[in-house]
Amino acid sequence: MSDEGSSAADGAARIAELEGALAVRRDEGLARTRRTVEAPQGRVVTVDGHDLLSFASNDYLGLANDPALVEAARAAALRRGVGAGASHLVCGHTDLHEALERELAQFSAPCADARALTFSSGYLANLAILTALAGRGDAVFADRLDHACLNDGALLSRADLVRYAHADADALAHRMRASAARRKLVATDAVFSMDGDLAPLPRLLDLAREHDAWLVVDDAHGFGVLGEGRGSLAHFGLASQRIVYMGTLGKAAGVAGAFVAAHPAVIETMLQTARPYIYTTAAPAMLAAALRAALRIIRDDTARRAHLFALIARFREGARGLPWPLLPSPTAIQPLVCGDSAAAVALSERLRERGVWVPAIRPPTVPAGTARLRVSLTAAHTAADVDRLLAELREAA
Ligand SMILES: Cc1ncc(COP(=O)(O)O)c(C=O)c1O
Repeated sequence: MSDEGSSAADGAARIAELEGALAVRRDEGLARTRRTVEAPQGRVVTVDGHDLLSFASNDYLGLANDPALVEAARAAALRRGVGAGASHLVCGHTDLHEALERELAQFSAPCADARALTFSSGYLANLAILTALAGRGDAVFADRLDHACLNDGALLSRADLVRYAHADADALAHRMRASAARRKLVATDAVFSMDGDLAPLPRLLDLAREHDAWLVVDDAHGFGVLGEGRGSLAHFGLASQRIVYMGTLGKAAGVAGAFVAAHPAVIETMLQTARPYIYTTAAPAMLAAALRAALRIIRDDTARRAHLFALIARFREGARGLPWPLLPSPTAIQPLVCGDSAAAVALSERLRERGVWVPAIRPPTVPAGTARLRVSLTAAHTAADVDRLLAELREAA
């Protein structure tokens, strides 16, 4: 190593550049921090030694620490160990993954004879869908409030990314008509992750039919919750071979990962060509075992959803008099819009000092000027928990 290479000055300009950018982020109130949780997910979690009533997780059905899931994972770990060893196409694909895929395809099929493919995360699943189905010369039409990974998938595919006004099917129609792209693909969150509202899926499917386009439905926040747990397609009663359905398994399903359910030709194309599927290690079989247990609960335990929807109604009723506008969300995601980032952070901090955890969500995750508290309700909460949150919000107002 040269003298220069070993000196403290080596790389200093590059480091200073990063530190300058981080300081700007802090000054603008946009620095992100992590809190270290020392307990399982649930209505109450321990953070830095303090118990907090949590409205922060996407564990909508309260499954992340469910005994049936934990036992399924434990039993599978004892039989199969904890590591998958390699990618699905090398030696990481097991009978437990295979069974899970079959069960998911049956439960949330977007068309007759659908197949499913599992992924380690929803982020990877969206990258895989977009890169498998779109390429140079094609156009991906995306809602302005789509999750970042749909947009990233579109960018990675090299198709043109055309964004349309949030949940505005007329704006989409206009943009699709104006496009001369060879192939078209419409990509949307079904339940918008930071707003909780629903995409107008029936109209989007009509437009996809009119333009012979794919419709990619990201149901990260609808699977397990809407349509008797089957998700947003069942909620709207939609089915088509042109729908590519993506559900995540780390939110309502309580574990980790994601799946794509679609026509067998779509699934086989992804298996053969999608780099985010091919070039990554499979999720451990023990997670597939836990997910099969989760799927049974999602299918059979309708009381959890009924309880969750009662809590949603209770919260919306109680939040009416608050100074922060409530968005038109019928789902477990109930944002309170504060506007200013600093105001959202201050409100979140104040609640935390009072033992209630509601994260502040700021730009660029949400549009500038719409920083918010993202209240997330779960079936693990009680009516008294919701009342306590409302009381603390009233107090803070
Ligand atoms: C709408 C949406 N799509 C995809 C994802 C990514 O899923 P995952 O967390 O499994 O990577 C998320 C969550 O973070 C999401 O909210």
